[in-house]
Amino acid sequence: MKRTHTCGELTKKLVGKKVILMGWCDVRRDHGGLIFVDLRDRWGKTQIVFDPQIAREPLDQGKEIRSEYVLSIEGKVRARPKGMENKKIGTGEVEVVVLNCKILNRCPTPPFEISDDTDAAEEIRLKYRYLDLRRPSMQKYLILRHKMAQVVRNYLSNENFLEVETPMLTRSTPEGARDYLVPSRVHPGKLFALPQSPQLFKQLLMVAGFDKYFQIVKCFRDEDLRADRQPEFTQIDIEASFIERDDILKMVEGLIITLFKEVLGQKIKGPFDHLDFFEAMNDYGSDKPDRRIPWKLEEATDIFKNSPFKIFSNAIAEGKVIKVLKIPSATSLARKDFEALEQEAKGMGALGLGWAKITEEGWQSPIAKNFSEGEREALIKKLKLKTGDAVLFVADQWALACQILGSLRLSLGKKLKALDESKTDLCWVLDFPLFEYNPEGKRYVSVHHPFTSPVLEDVPLMATDPQKVRSQGYDLVLNGYEVGGGSIRIHDRALQQRVFEILNITPEEAERRFGFLLQALEYGAPPHGGIALGLDRLAMLLTGCSSIRDVIAFPKTTSASCLMTEAPSEVDVAQLKDLHIRLTTGD
Ligand code: AMO
Repeated sequence: MKRTHTCGELTKKLVGKKVILMGWCDVRRDHGGLIFVDLRDRWGKTQIVFDPQIAREPLDQGKEIRSEYVLSIEGKVRARPKGMENKKIGTGEVEVVVLNCKILNRCPTPPFEISDDTDAAEEIRLKYRYLDLRRPSMQKYLILRHKMAQVVRNYLSNENFLEVETPMLTRSTPEGARDYLVPSRVHPGKLFALPQSPQLFKQLLMVAGFDKYFQIVKCFRDEDLRADRQPEFTQIDIEASFIERDDILKMVEGLIITLFKEVLGQKIKGPFDHLDFFEAMNDYGSDKPDRRIPWKLEEATDIFKNSPFKIFSNAIAEGKVIKVLKIPSATSLARKDFEALEQEAKGMGALGLGWAKITEEGWQSPIAKNFSEGEREALIKKLKLKTGDAVLFVADQWALACQILGSLRLSLGKKLKALDESKTDLCWVLDFPLFEYNPEGKRYVSVHHPFTSPVLEDVPLMATDPQKVRSQGYDLVLNGYEVGGGSIRIHDRALQQRVFEILNITPEEAERRFGFLLQALEYGAPPHGGIALGLDRLAMLLTGCSSIRDVIAFPKTTSASCLMTEAPSEVDVAQLKDLHIRLTTGD
């Protein structure tokens, strides 16, 4: 029997027709004389009926069928009796009366119910991923992801970008994570690194004259995992020559607008807002602000400069700032909630968290009694405080104070439902510093990567005040997630050398790690720049999933393992010997 239709396409128009369907038994209901089965495939579900009044023979199979049995049925389409239609599914007006049924395969009782309402733990879903992926919602996510990849390929090809593959077995790329390493059998003691990104190769393709490159490509990073991070993930990687920053931004805006339109049917307006890094940190306490929460951080350093409240005035004297966050309509927050927030703030390195609530009876606060009348008045005026509002205070170095309040802004904004889910918030964050100081390593590190160009007018500052040098980097932020990052690159060997010096990368080390790139820069490298968008993160946000794992067919857990294949795994001693490896664990 060959199927004539899928399980998602029968409508009233086909009533009276003979059809052959194949699929899985989603649910079986035995109503005494009649047996109903919902037959499921990728396209949908169709109700099939074993009706002995019409055909006796298939009834024996009907009785045998259980969930997830694979069936092939031949039958006749008929309209469902009046009042029995299912408006929720496309095939809900019809059913198929079975004339012939073949059980193609059986299935033991599945470890969890294969339905979108399943409450199965994620561990079990990941162990039996092939069953989890049968759920309609999971299929919908992967179909949407497929559509995204199609749209990206079409859009970039129409813009004359060429898809070029780059190696998986390569040398380390400095994106800031640990490498996944692959030992070489042929070269004892030597190892390949899996790429953290194709960064160096795409720059070499520009030197080679390819002009416009893209690739939908796997990247590998051994780093701490979170809901939006996987050890292997996919980038939409892009690079172009003879362009400026704004050319890249405009082209990516077009791509994102097309993705929303063609994948979700949603209209997004460009150009996207530009925020500079300082503004993003100062107003939202994050370099990936979620502006769907309409709250901004403020600064009250001026108000408390001479405060009788010594904790604040002393902090200011030490060069710290007083950052504040107004929480409008915070009547639901009680003292214990503020105490919990203080613990959260301390976990992020705060010395403390001040709070005040404006009630009918006046200020309720462990610290406001120490403020002068004038300070309270000034705060009310600056923050436009009303009864019911609350204020959080952090006295610390600017960056830390912003970060702490930024994090509380996000968690409280979600908790108090101040986040407007109906909005899509897209913005560029620009003008990052080129370097940041790493106190542990006592050295400067790149905020993006070492090939990012400084803003050219800031180059003289490299000698005097490296932290003030702005980079030509840019991040794309969607609803509080960094979905892309890139930069205009350094295409001049001498400037690259100076950046390495500040990063404390010696000429020998630079030669050893990226000698091939430095050499290529000398062979007529064009000015170039690019970006990489996180495809998994974009898919997570476009599908509305809260975990990146839901949009990856076979993801890893947060401890970087695969519960289905049980990778990583031990290997045969002989294999290790071939690779000239002796393990020290388990000795
Ligand atoms: P970057 O490191 O910012 O830039 O990465 C680009 C984008 O990739 C996504 N991403 C991840 N997604 C899931 N899991 C991860 N572990 C993960 N790490 C990154 C993010 C991020 O914005 N070579 C540069 C790009 C360039 O300069 O052109 C790079 O890789 O969405």
